[in-house]
Amino acid sequence: MAIMLQYKMFDLLRAHLTEPTSRGLAIAISRAVSDGSLQQGQRLAPIRTVARELGLSPSTVSAAWSLLIRSGTIHTDGRRGTVIARLREPGPRRYRLALNRTGEPRLDLSTGVPDPALLPDLRPALRRLPGAVSPGSYLDDPVLPELQDVLRADWPFGPERLTVLDGAMDALDLLTASLVQFGDRVAVEHPCFPPLLDLLESVGAEVVAVDQDDDGPLPQSLTAALDQGVVAVYLQPRAQNPTGAALRPERAQLLAEALADSPAVVIENDSAGAVAGADLISLDRWRPGRVVHIRSFSKSHGPDLRLAAVGGPASVLDPVIERRLLGQGWTSRVLQHLLLDLLTSPETIDQVGAARAVYAERRVLTTEALLAQGVPVSGRDGMNVWVPVADETAALLHLAAAGISASAGSPFAAKEGMAPHLRVTTALLREGYADFAAELAQAARLGGWTGPR
Ligand SMILES: Cc1ncc(COP(=O)(O)O)c(C=O)c1O
Repeated sequence: MAIMLQYKMFDLLRAHLTEPTSRGLAIAISRAVSDGSLQQGQRLAPIRTVARELGLSPSTVSAAWSLLIRSGTIHTDGRRGTVIARLREPGPRRYRLALNRTGEPRLDLSTGVPDPALLPDLRPALRRLPGAVSPGSYLDDPVLPELQDVLRADWPFGPERLTVLDGAMDALDLLTASLVQFGDRVAVEHPCFPPLLDLLESVGAEVVAVDQDDDGPLPQSLTAALDQGVVAVYLQPRAQNPTGAALRPERAQLLAEALADSPAVVIENDSAGAVAGADLISLDRWRPGRVVHIRSFSKSHGPDLRLAAVGGPASVLDPVIERRLLGQGWTSRVLQHLLLDLLTSPETIDQVGAARAVYAERRVLTTEALLAQGVPVSGRDGMNVWVPVADETAALLHLAAAGISASAGSPFAAKEGMAPHLRVTTALLREGYADFAAELAQAARLGGWTGPR
């Protein structure tokens, strides 16, 4: 019976094997796991048997097993040998956990989204559109030349290539598909944005966590990640979601120095863009030509625009732009005209500036109220605060009973062993700071928390 199963498994792997390399075999097994033909707990044949049956060398199979172990697809299980570790769940698993709300809260601070009341009014720009657009061509530049000029004038460095994509997540998705192969190692901040962790898991990357403080990633932790041979480093230069960290120039310079001998591409995700409060610092200043910078317009101008600009070296962006011609092609120029209007209309510039000030104020008022209750909150920028609690579940349940919702911290963890936290979206807290802080302080202590760690 076991032998028959093994032969079925070899037939299956032969069918999935597109190239006779370790990566090819790792991808074949990973595909068989994701399409359900290999099941969690199923035992793999010994390396020599697999090598013989598939016509590969034992060292190729052994290298494939290392890739699969790194990506969490298989593991060694004592006397049972090497087994399929788990069924991959494609999709936004951590993202959904982070948004897991209890009931219908009266105050929902779990979402990380901008306040709709602070987004600019699109109607004047929409009314001005009809004269500007000509939605008829496949052949025009993928980016409106006038929009290129406006974006370049306000970019933190002079990018060799600049393009417009459908939001920061689209940019992260396309860059990752182009730069990261199955089993590659990549560095991310710990904690970080759950959909990025989901995305990296979905391509079979191994995440290496980089610790951070309020000024951004710690240089020695980045060096340790680079020593593991990462191919890309994902950073949020300011308004870090969830911690509120923001790079200072001294820190950015140290990080760039740590990266000096590394071939890794740095991907900076400025997701808060024009409504971030901290200055925008890009590592490109100290590491020119090897940084890709993403600016989202979701928080500043509206998530449903689905727009982000991406600038960086042609060697990184050209393959993305070329590959995109086989899919979406380009970002609708109708939307690009709208963005151009929004970025240049004095009225909208004022509205976005006012929103930035309100977000900064809400963050400060929340932080001060929490400090007054003895709850330490780190970070200095962005739409969220990262609150230490004794027990995430107990804290969330306590808040839920008061009609308040926040995000559990655990989906943001890039590595095991993170102290429990909640992420609270201050961008949506319009009033009642003292009452809210009192409730959150009680919630934070449930389970025995007695003060700062
Ligand atoms: C760090 C980070 N990256 C990306 C996004 C999504 O950006 P976009 O709407 O541009 O895809 C968010 C939204 O909350 C975010 O916080």
